[in-house]
Amino acid sequence: MTRPSIPVWLDCDPGHDDATAILLAGHTPGLELLGVSTIGGNQTLAKVTKNALDVLDAVGLSHIDVVAGQPRPLMRPPLLCPEIHGDTGLDGPGGGRLLPRSPRSPLPGKAITVISRAIEAAYEQLQRERTGQQQQQQQRGGEGGGGEGSWRSSSSSSSSSPSGERVRLVCTGALTNAALLLTVYPELSEMVEVVIMGGCMGVGNTGPVVEFNIQTDPEAAKIVFESGVPLTMVPLEVTHTVLATPQVLAAIGGIGGMGATAATAAAAGAVGIAAEAAAAAGPASAALSTAAPPPPSSSPVAPAAGTAAAAASPFRHTIQQLLLFFAETYKRVFRFEHPPLHDPVAVAYVIRPDLFECRRMRVDVETCSSLSYGQTVCDVWGQSAAPPNVNVVLQVDVEGVWRLLLEAVARADAGSPLNRAGTGAAAGADGAGAAAVASAGAAAVQEQQRQQAVVVSSGPVGAAALLLEGCRLCDGGRDGGGGGGGGSSRAE
Ligand code: BDR
Ligand code: CA
Repeated sequence: MTRPSIPVWLDCDPGHDDATAILLAGHTPGLELLGVSTIGGNQTLAKVTKNALDVLDAVGLSHIDVVAGQPRPLMRPPLLCPEIHGDTGLDGPGGGRLLPRSPRSPLPGKAITVISRAIEAAYEQLQRERTGQQQQQQQRGGEGGGGEGSWRSSSSSSSSSPSGERVRLVCTGALTNAALLLTVYPELSEMVEVVIMGGCMGVGNTGPVVEFNIQTDPEAAKIVFESGVPLTMVPLEVTHTVLATPQVLAAIGGIGGMGATAATAAAAGAVGIAAEAAAAAGPASAALSTAAPPPPSSSPVAPAAGTAAAAASPFRHTIQQLLLFFAETYKRVFRFEHPPLHDPVAVAYVIRPDLFECRRMRVDVETCSSLSYGQTVCDVWGQSAAPPNVNVVLQVDVEGVWRLLLEAVARADAGSPLNRAGTGAAAGADGAGAAAVASAGAAAVQEQQRQQAVVVSSGPVGAAALLLEGCRLCDGGRDGGGGGGGGSSRAE
């Protein structure tokens, strides 16, 4: 009996690691990516929305819609992260945009309306499929019921619908959209399981004890964490183990012509690349190349996913280049030897929860302290009187995550328009694609300016204002408070 796909909605702020989360969510069999919404964070809403469209098109998912969410946090000025993701939010080495511009526009309308409709429809579909499965099992005189066994299920479900029957809402940016969604449509908390990349149990990144996504909109995080929805949190402690080493980058970039070495190819074997790749890798080269990609072929290479060394391609080269930029900024800002690829880990949890070790615990979000607003206070030892509300990931099988990602890269490579000869997209922003980028530039700038005007004119959201009424006297948590540290800056 075929298992129904897991419907997933991805809310993100691309962002280099968000881009790989999109790729993973859209190119994993067994997941159905319903749509993508954006949230201001790594860059302005205008920029991350464009980036989401660009990424989807580049990875061959131009049938997936994007809807723009909130331009700013519920109560605070936007917090951007150009020091890690560049001015475009998705810079390539040397700065500037790497991906060709998508000709598409985001869907009209409010993100929460679009998301709620998609979730409701997918949930109803799940119910129908489950009923059909039960009927089939009864006809066959099977054990009946379908139950949890027919689905992979996580340990986070806390209310009536088992996790396997829920739509997954994966959030890899600030939780503003999610908070509004669950506030305006509380009935959705019976239909979704939320999986977030965010928070930390101890040391933060953009502040001593705060992680960027939660720091950006602590009030929204508080709403989500206290909503009662089944919630899994993938904290920094875990994503900081998923490092995009040169070996991983070589495996993503493909073997031959891209600076892959015998050593890197051999190491790539540890993440699912066949051993014979080492022999094919050619002369040793110490550094990963930032040279131009090989010419696109009219029939893109389509290796068996994750089972064999893949040949280099313009698509693979482009993804590698994006991650090289990310590696450079992580080295500069955080002195990381290799950059942690945070966001796809949350998607990987939906795909393979068995790769993860988790513990349910009480997690509260600090919203008042000027020192630590945005901190996820994790009751690891169960000392709180309040009930556990979050399934916190403690550990992950890192190799398993890379395997999933490399398989998804291989599938994306097989369908990416970047590999098609004769298209502007094929050359990326380095060649013919640059001309397409230039001609679209003026319109893009105008659109960005228009959307940034919206960002500036938007005010705080009433629901959150009510929620935090009691906190108004605390400190307001503006810049210079608990978050400040890693260089991210509030854009008033
Ligand atoms: C998170 O912050 C963002 O910069 C990344 O995309 C990720 O979602 C890590 O703290
Ligand atoms: Ca992100």
